[in-house]
Amino acid sequence: MKILLDKESLHQGVADMARQIEAAYEGRQLTIVGVLTGSVVLMADLIRLIQLPMRVGVIQASSYRGATTERGDLLINSELMIDISGRDVLLVDDIFDTGHTLTRVIEKMREFKPHSIRSAVLLKKKGRAEVDYVPGFSAFDIPDEFVVGYGLDYEDMYRNLPYLAALEPSDLEKHAALP
Ligand code: IMP
Ligand code: MG
Repeated sequence: MKILLDKESLHQGVADMARQIEAAYEGRQLTIVGVLTGSVVLMADLIRLIQLPMRVGVIQASSYRGATTERGDLLINSELMIDISGRDVLLVDDIFDTGHTLTRVIEKMREFKPHSIRSAVLLKKKGRAEVDYVPGFSAFDIPDEFVVGYGLDYEDMYRNLPYLAALEPSDLEKHAALP
């Protein structure tokens, strides 16, 4: 795999984003909601770097796997989410690609009447956005390549890699051959 961002670069980018978030919410309480499953690694690092009083929760968003559903259908499960009504909410996700996932999740969360809602992502893919929305905070802009590691998966694997890597055709062959 071709490493795009090593452990140290990731840490630096996330720490810089944490400082920006602290500045934006200075003197306030924050409610941070991570989008499962891609945000878990970023969440673990980010919440420990932000020096503000905060509540932490999760929401689940995943592509439909049903046989009859169209590709791109999104399943959003907010049943396990903490109370966000009247709160200043920061939604955290791994990557902003076309932007459909994040905008749909935000739409869903607005139903619970937060005081404000902004978003923070580890990565933004250049030239891919299909929605009229930009995440409030992002650590890195990356080229249009399929990446894994630091929470991001390919077929639910590689989330545990401590670096961010681009999957190349030879990696896909190796993946397909895994026992
Ligand atoms: P969007 O709805 O197009 O913005 O896609 C967002 C979701 O697609 C992310 O939350 C990821 O789960 C997945 N995704 C998009 N690009 C990548 C990638 O390069 N690697 C791994 N997952 C990705
Ligand atoms: Mg994913």
